[in-house]
Amino acid sequence: MDFPLYAPAEEHDMLRETIRALADEKIAPRAAETDETEEFPWDVYKALVAADLHAVHVPEEYGGAGADALATVIVIEEVARACASSSLIPAVNKLGTVPLLLSASADLKARYLAPVARGDAMFSYALSEGEAGSDAAAMRTRAVLDGDHYVLNGTKMWITNAGVSEYYTLMAVTDPSAGARGISAFVVEKADEGVSFGPKERKLGIKGSPTRQVILENVRIPASRMIGDPGTGFKTALATLDHTRITIAAQALGIAQGALDYAIGYVKERKQFGRPIADFQGLQFMVADMAMKLEAARQLTYHAAAKSELAMHGQPQRDLTFLSSAAKCAASDAAMEITTDAVQLLGGYGYTRDFPVERMMRDAKITQIYEGTNQIQRMVMARQLLK
Ligand code: CAA
Repeated sequence: MDFPLYAPAEEHDMLRETIRALADEKIAPRAAETDETEEFPWDVYKALVAADLHAVHVPEEYGGAGADALATVIVIEEVARACASSSLIPAVNKLGTVPLLLSASADLKARYLAPVARGDAMFSYALSEGEAGSDAAAMRTRAVLDGDHYVLNGTKMWITNAGVSEYYTLMAVTDPSAGARGISAFVVEKADEGVSFGPKERKLGIKGSPTRQVILENVRIPASRMIGDPGTGFKTALATLDHTRITIAAQALGIAQGALDYAIGYVKERKQFGRPIADFQGLQFMVADMAMKLEAARQLTYHAAAKSELAMHGQPQRDLTFLSSAAKCAASDAAMEITTDAVQLLGGYGYTRDFPVERMMRDAKITQIYEGTNQIQRMVMARQLLK
């Protein structure tokens, strides 16, 4: 094993410095505007591509940077510290492509991973539907075999970066009599005839990342676009989340760190009763608790990332499912508490859009919801413990 299990190596620290410098210079200054305008930040995407930080997890054999799972976490964390919407660029590129890395044919991997590595295409993940959120296996989207093609019909919902991504890993029912074992995974392209997108959801946060329906009307795709064998799509989808819930944890850590850093700077400057409010023990205890919760969640996330990396390289980890849910749940709950406390520390100013912490508080909320609500994470953890 040539990477550390628990602690970041020197290379990880250097990577963090690089991405933080880029985030300070090009991402943070755009974050408020991205939130206000609700526009996808193409300039940030281009800056990430220029620095080869937009999809760092793609292996070198497909032209990617070949970064390990911990490095990917660090990239997402640092982008999220500046702008949560932008952090969905590296995160969703990983979410969309892990199903291929886990289960796709060599041909499919070569064809679809290289454009992502080059920055010519982004890759989204389409599992949920209007009536199949937490109960993902209840999906209705159908894929029917017709000669050497599948014909897809249905509507996927809450799809992150829909419309801006060229490619979609999309789960659909191929055998309605087989339940979860009748679901298969496919690569669907934005350019495929019959693919369209719903209007952008009007959201509380991550407003620079479009969330839309992906609508499939008689979309005819070659059968070779199936990822893995018929009926394995649901397992591939859940196995993917074992790796990518860790990236949502990373996003939560970054948002929380951004809020904590801002609040610490503020309490040292802000004077009331003739002295900086940082002098008051009540606020000191708040800051200490915020940092303590953040660091605990960070260590759990890095540990889970190390396990994810081992699992990706042919060493299955029995506790990966537990750890990825635990990391996502702990980090997102921590982020919600920390960002809420950051708003509190800034008082009236914190509640206004002139300061970034209210945006961070709004952005933090989604990390408790997507890639499985934290109630589902607790269910997944309990199942692992009690089985
Ligand atoms: N890895 C591989 N296979 C797994 C697995 C895992 N982690 N967990 C379960 N499976 C397998 C099971 O073994 C079973 O297969 P067999 O029948 O062959 O044994 C099959 O998958 C079905 O498993 P369950 O019976 O446990 O399935 P379930 O219907 O009870 O549901 C669930 C399980 C955990 C609740 C699942 O539906 C779930 O995670 N729901 C939450 C959905 C979710 O996370 N959605 C995220 C959307 S993506 C997103 O949000 C991204 C974004 O915007 C950025």
